[in-house]
Amino acid sequence: MQKIVTLTRHIIEEQRKHPTATGEFTNLINDLAFAIKLISYNTNKAGLLDVLGEAGTTNVQGEKVKKLDVFAHETMFRALDHGGHLCVMGSEEEEKPIAIPSQFPIGKYVILFDPLDGSSNIEANVSVGTIFSIYRRVTPDGTPGTLEDLLQPGSEQICAGYVVYGSSTMLVYTTGNGVHGFTLDPSYGEFVLSHPDIKIPKKGKIYSVNESNFDYWDQSIKNYVHYIKQIDPDSGRPMNSRYIGSMVSDFHRNLLYGGIFLYPASKRAPRGKLRLAYEANPMAFIIEQAGGRASDGHNRIMDIVPTELHQRTPLFIGSEEDVNMVEEFIRGERP
Ligand code: AHG
Ligand code: MN
Ligand code: MN
Repeated sequence: MQKIVTLTRHIIEEQRKHPTATGEFTNLINDLAFAIKLISYNTNKAGLLDVLGEAGTTNVQGEKVKKLDVFAHETMFRALDHGGHLCVMGSEEEEKPIAIPSQFPIGKYVILFDPLDGSSNIEANVSVGTIFSIYRRVTPDGTPGTLEDLLQPGSEQICAGYVVYGSSTMLVYTTGNGVHGFTLDPSYGEFVLSHPDIKIPKKGKIYSVNESNFDYWDQSIKNYVHYIKQIDPDSGRPMNSRYIGSMVSDFHRNLLYGGIFLYPASKRAPRGKLRLAYEANPMAFIIEQAGGRASDGHNRIMDIVPTELHQRTPLFIGSEEDVNMVEEFIRGERP
């Protein structure tokens, strides 16, 4: 019989490498995986519910087609609130830190998440995702977690991952020991290891950016994007443009094929658009573990010390040589 490595088995085997592990982390990931299966199931039928809604059946609307990102947020919260593993949560959909309800025990971990990434795409049947980031708490054990627990630099992450709800549902995660991808087998509802130890090529062919922002960019970014589109087959140019507008999907494709995703600061968004805590940091942990880089143009993303929960950051992430090159343009080392 073929060896099937489920997500649970993979996490247990990873945990065994740490002599002090209690299994609590494994349970946290299991709760998370359950939330993800529910979100996957509901995003897959979102289109169908919309059709029914338009036919005038108000019953089907109401509860069920509540905006999917709110549904995803509530699903994450409810799957994670009672396990006793967490002391606080942070979500894109909630302005303040989310406390663990008082009837449940308080744990030693902290989670941040973007429950549904790329949700503006969902009605067009384009892939969306979920992103998560896990830390150990820094405030005293047994007390409710605080903002301080949520404002740790990305370098302190102990686990990060994302899920793509695409033609299949895939979960990609790291605990600092490589990047591993699992595909959800819908017939028995398990995540099965399909992409062990993912590595990103050192140099990619793809660039992903919302080029409608061109006129809002600094000259250095304009120069870089102009450069990578010039014809010079010897240096692999022009690079190929691919932009979905769902970071998870754009990132996932670039991770597998090689390339760069950039969302620079601009006159329109002076600090960038993407959020440090639950978009940039988890993807940065994954890309570094896959051999790539993540930068805000000047600094390593995971070295930034956050001051706000929903802080934004410019983001340049992907193949090492491509991120190096855009930094050279930003520093003015290339014309
Ligand atoms: P979210 O759906 O969680 O708000 O995130 C959307 C983000 C990200 O997924 C994507 O890369 C980016 O917004 C797209 O922004 P533009 O539409 O400005 O290109
Ligand atoms: Mn997002
Ligand atoms: Mn979102």
